[in-house]
Amino acid sequence: MILLDGKETAASLEVAIKQRIARLQECGVTPGLAVVLVGENPASQAYVSNKDRTCQRLGIYSRKLELPVTTTERELLAIVEQLNLDPQIHGILVQSPLPAHIHERTINLAIDPSKDVDGFHPTNLAKLAMDDPSGFVPCTPLGCQYLLKAYHIPTRGAHVVVVGRSLIVGKPMALLLLQKGLGGDATVTIAHSQTRDLAAITRSAHIVIAALGRPHALGREHIGEGAVVIDVGINRIADTSSARGYRLVGDVDFENVKEKCSAITPVPGGVGPMTIVMLMQNTLTACERLAR
Ligand code: GUN
Repeated sequence: MILLDGKETAASLEVAIKQRIARLQECGVTPGLAVVLVGENPASQAYVSNKDRTCQRLGIYSRKLELPVTTTERELLAIVEQLNLDPQIHGILVQSPLPAHIHERTINLAIDPSKDVDGFHPTNLAKLAMDDPSGFVPCTPLGCQYLLKAYHIPTRGAHVVVVGRSLIVGKPMALLLLQKGLGGDATVTIAHSQTRDLAAITRSAHIVIAALGRPHALGREHIGEGAVVIDVGINRIADTSSARGYRLVGDVDFENVKEKCSAITPVPGGVGPMTIVMLMQNTLTACERLAR
């Protein structure tokens, strides 16, 4: 079994990103990313801090906006509007999930598509569906695809089962795998919580992409002999033996499937670092396009 090392793959991509940033800085341009967090969800706080640290390591100007859970939709819209107009900011990310009183769709619509480094604006999602490379592709699916390419795992003609139909992962992942060319050309099935006999479907896959958001939801019975497993899940489960009181596990029961599959991403250290590095890449691309 091959471990698909996202940490190492992301680190080698960071080297190339740093060089692109250095070239921009020679022309007096610094890419800027604004990350907006509403409320105090501990997992979101951890993601946002991680993004902030990565920006600083790479030479991206990072502006972290931490807003109280009582922030209204109008207030958040006003902040997004300001960021849309701010010449120091090339990428805007509003961390999901938002508190229930704020509509994510309304916020996604308000972000200038040319700064939408998350790729959640309808304009960018439509561009993905239309194979138009001028948009932005959501970071997690992009990171999964990059990892498959980096390990020379062919997708052409392969049956890829994506488990999960979210806007952040499942749907854009399927669209990306359907595109023509390297990392695409796959035969894609999207399975979800209502799918009948999930195990029979995932067992028929050459590649399984697990994005359900449920710890250890997929086990040995879900994975075919020699399949490739990409585990998008990052779930916190209670663990009294850990100083933090929890540990991170994926949507796949790693120990249970590791001898059956041909390759698998670990959690942590698999898809997570890839998502962040893709965000950096999207921010850099946004900056290069806007500075032109
Ligand atoms: N929450 C979990 N993943 C993501 C992501 O990729 N972008 C945003 N904005 N929120 C998230």
